[in-house]
Amino acid sequence: MNQADFPMLKEDLIYLDNGATTLKPKCVIDKITEYYERYSANAHRGDYDISFKVDQEYEKAREIVRNFINARYREEVVFTSGSTESLNMIANGFFGKYLEAGDEVILSQSEHASNVLPWFRLAKEKGVVIRYIPLDESHYVTLDNLKKVVTPNTKVIALASITNVIGDERPMKEICEFAHQNNIFVVMDGAQSVPHRKTDVQDLDVDFLAFSGHKMCGPTGIGVLYGKKELLEEMEPQNLGGGMNESFDSPNEVYLKELPTRLEAGTPNIAGALGLGAAITYLENIGMEKIEAYEKKLRKYALEKLVSIPHLDILNIESDSGIISFNVEGVFSQDVAYYLNKYKVCVRAGNHCAKILKQETGVQNSLRVSLYFYNTEQDIDDLVELLSNKEKIVEEMI
Ligand code: ALA
Repeated sequence: MNQADFPMLKEDLIYLDNGATTLKPKCVIDKITEYYERYSANAHRGDYDISFKVDQEYEKAREIVRNFINARYREEVVFTSGSTESLNMIANGFFGKYLEAGDEVILSQSEHASNVLPWFRLAKEKGVVIRYIPLDESHYVTLDNLKKVVTPNTKVIALASITNVIGDERPMKEICEFAHQNNIFVVMDGAQSVPHRKTDVQDLDVDFLAFSGHKMCGPTGIGVLYGKKELLEEMEPQNLGGGMNESFDSPNEVYLKELPTRLEAGTPNIAGALGLGAAITYLENIGMEKIEAYEKKLRKYALEKLVSIPHLDILNIESDSGIISFNVEGVFSQDVAYYLNKYKVCVRAGNHCAKILKQETGVQNSLRVSLYFYNTEQDIDDLVELLSNKEKIVEEMI
């Protein structure tokens, strides 16, 4: 769908690395250019027209995000540099204050580094204990398996709603319901789900959500931290500086601004926020339900063809997101990626920053195809043709 909107698709390119980042439609590029060409002042600081215009546009982008995820209040939407920063802010700024030695955090071994390493730090610095949900035979999280690792000391469950290698979709609404019955907080890493599915934070009743703009047609360097207002009120700002304080006096008296500005110290990524607003408007005009349905259909089409190639080992046949991870038997995944690159096919190879997943799957590295709505059946046909001939892969890979 909508290939004509993407300048990069005018090139001879088969882009199948959307889990890493997505291409940008012209309307997003235009919005960023509009800011730099027509009103490139700072936000929340100037007493002149173009700065008022920036304030208006920046807050309009926040309102677009709020509406997109159905947050109750604008104060619950904080602009960050991406999912990584959002997750670090949640772990350090909120849970760093709240958790004590012996408190337990539940993760899975298929989480991305961004949803593991901030918790490792709390384990090291505060004596917090990390427990992992045993995955089922398809490498999925189930509510029953989650319940097996919950103890009276469990304080937080932090999970990706869709993982970046297995591509499994977690039952987040049920997890939130169960967690809240047991006074446990839920942190959702939405980096791989928010771009592909309708996300309603009130319906999920999730406590915190992190996602990135660049995986949903927006620019790099912008992302979102959502948190329930009463929880964000308790969050310790990680960055202190201009814009977030009301006043300060020497020595050591600081009065902070209200949410969300309190958590956005320094000059914000204004072009990024405006670009993300344009990206969300673009996605909403297509329709998130339509995007989800299209991707599911394309995944089914791809999988039917890929499973018929005998020398492919597919890691996640069962999952229903646009992520398909596999290996060519006996060939290092990066060599296959180089081979595909010769034919202008872009896929990702390696461990995909999910470095403890191998403890579950026994697979160190894989090739990952990750789809978006602008991919086509022709893209899949070309990929399948290139992967079908193992002799050719081996001959041409270096
Ligand atoms: N987190 C991104 C990925 O999975 C970069 O590729």
